[in-house]
Amino acid sequence: MSAFSIVVAADQASGIGLKGGLPWRLRKDMAFFANVTSTVPATTTSTTHSSSDIQRVNACIMGRRTWESIPAKFRPLVNRFNVIVSRDPHYLDDKPEKNNPMVALATSFQSALELAETYQRPRQATETTSPSGSAILIERVFLIGGGQLYTEGIESAACQHIFLTRIHTTVECDAFFPAIQESDYTVLPSKDAHSFLQNYVQDSIEEGTIVEGAYHYEYTVYNRI
Ligand SMILES: NC(=O)c1ccc[n+]([C@@H]2O[C@H](COP(=O)([O-])OP(=O)(O)OC[C@H]3O[C@@H](n4cnc5c(N)ncnc54)[C@H](OP(=O)(O)O)[C@@H]3O)[C@@H](O)[C@H]2O)c1
Repeated sequence: MSAFSIVVAADQASGIGLKGGLPWRLRKDMAFFANVTSTVPATTTSTTHSSSDIQRVNACIMGRRTWESIPAKFRPLVNRFNVIVSRDPHYLDDKPEKNNPMVALATSFQSALELAETYQRPRQATETTSPSGSAILIERVFLIGGGQLYTEGIESAACQHIFLTRIHTTVECDAFFPAIQESDYTVLPSKDAHSFLQNYVQDSIEEGTIVEGAYHYEYTVYNRI
């Protein structure tokens, strides 16, 4: 089963969503999300298979409601392999993304991880093609929401990191992030989290409290113990 990381933005009460959408609009956090989920590691054990024909991408696993919360013009998430989790095996049948090779459907979270793993195997890299016609090799795997999927994913021993944007306020929400058990995860001190993130994305990341409009927030990192 693929190791994976959770990416989430939550308020002080662990609220993450309202009426099928995000309760806030945080431009910098959206860019941070895109950076974390799109960046493929510079060096990897897969480099022996890095022919120019192979497109190395990360996978984003998400619940069906989260998929539907993404505006149509922004989905599938570009340069990422999108895995939608729904109990309906025919969910994509009448959708425009049905034949998009960067979109897949899984009927359980477990099978979403297994699907991602098959694309991580080098021999599979030549067995699927991206829209540009090149083969796909999945590098990192992310669980990007929503509340239902996070609740299942956080329990998994395969969850290595939680990248949690903590918003220092409480707003009305109807979807929530589950409690992070201290016995399972340890939060990095803020300096260490910042170094970890910069190394993870090989890019500079804003440090400390970020202010956007009325919102104050910071990027935090939890690692599985
Ligand atoms: N703040 C953040 O970082 C963040 C991130 C992502 C999402 N969100 C927000 O979170 C909210 C959506 O979260 P949500 O909890 O309502 O929904 P969700 O987790 O995105 O999706 C729930 C759907 O996933 C499928 N599903 C869930 N568990 C499953 C399982 N074990 N096996 C198979 N399918 C399963 C079901 O689809 P079917 O009904 O089709 O079977 C279910 O209705 C939205 O408001 C969104 O904006 C926030």
